[in-house]
Amino acid sequence: MARAFAPGKCILFGEHAVVYGQPAVAVSIEAGVEVSISESNRWSLEGMPFEASKHPHISHILNDIFQYSGPPLEIDIKSSLYSAAGLGSSAALSNAMGAALQELVDPESTLDLISLARMGHSAEANAQKGRASPTDTATSALGGCVVVSGSSPAGTKHIFDATLETPEGSRNWSISKVEIPEIEDVWLVLGFTGIGSPTGDMVAGVSELLKSDPLKMKEIEAIGEITYSGLRELSSGNMEEVGRAMNECQERLRKIGVSSPELENLISATESHSLGAKLTGAGGGGCMVSLTRNPQRVAECIEIAGGRPLVSKFGSGGARIVAEEN
Ligand code: PMV
Repeated sequence: MARAFAPGKCILFGEHAVVYGQPAVAVSIEAGVEVSISESNRWSLEGMPFEASKHPHISHILNDIFQYSGPPLEIDIKSSLYSAAGLGSSAALSNAMGAALQELVDPESTLDLISLARMGHSAEANAQKGRASPTDTATSALGGCVVVSGSSPAGTKHIFDATLETPEGSRNWSISKVEIPEIEDVWLVLGFTGIGSPTGDMVAGVSELLKSDPLKMKEIEAIGEITYSGLRELSSGNMEEVGRAMNECQERLRKIGVSSPELENLISATESHSLGAKLTGAGGGGCMVSLTRNPQRVAECIEIAGGRPLVSKFGSGGARIVAEEN
């Protein structure tokens, strides 16, 4: 039996603007996906016969990446993430699957997180018609605080470059990490609106807006500047300022039309206990995130306002092999 865990992610700054070449900052969260694999006499997923066409991420990793030809596998998945909520659940699944399969076929190898991030990105691109940014898979694999941008910003450590042939041509990203000081007393609380977040539709909506009103590009540029200043404050552990930058980012996200009444409802419910709060991911539905010193209270406020909370420590670890229990 081989078992691996990969975390979900939360975008702190830069969603949508990253599509136009600005940087985005994401952190791994504690919740994620655990995949267990063991050899068996028939292929199964969660006790049911495994149908490759219904699970493109898993079958891409098995067939295209590993070219697996061993005995049938029994695959089990445990997820503590809301799906279609902008928390990177498919990236976490791809990464956990890749890590568990690596452990099964070559238990002596050490987990190479960059190869895993590339593997996960390839699975995401394959499942999304060739269009996928490496943000979710890189953050889930590497853990901590990850910056995705055109080139590695000052004060960050360059980790690897990602390239993808998309239907619109070749795209390139630089993936860097930011070392953040130990943060003991600040948490992230995510609030899921319960509404699926259609990333493709939201990205298309922003593109339409920019075509009809090119002056809105100044909001995208402003998000880029807020992202750089948020990044500087994060590196120095100045969480009050990080929260302020999150609020400013939310103002700009509203102006490009990606917030929603449900997101605004959860953001305003948590405001008085948050250092900052904003939508995270594509918007429309999905999740908001609060940066707070009082996670219990914020989680209660989210529940009272009709959302589903998820509390996480700040920038927890990346993908890992889970040791077998004796
Ligand atoms: O909601 P998510 O995790 O799919 O994040 C989307 C982030 C966008 O910037 C809106 C799109 C992208 O490809 O970066």
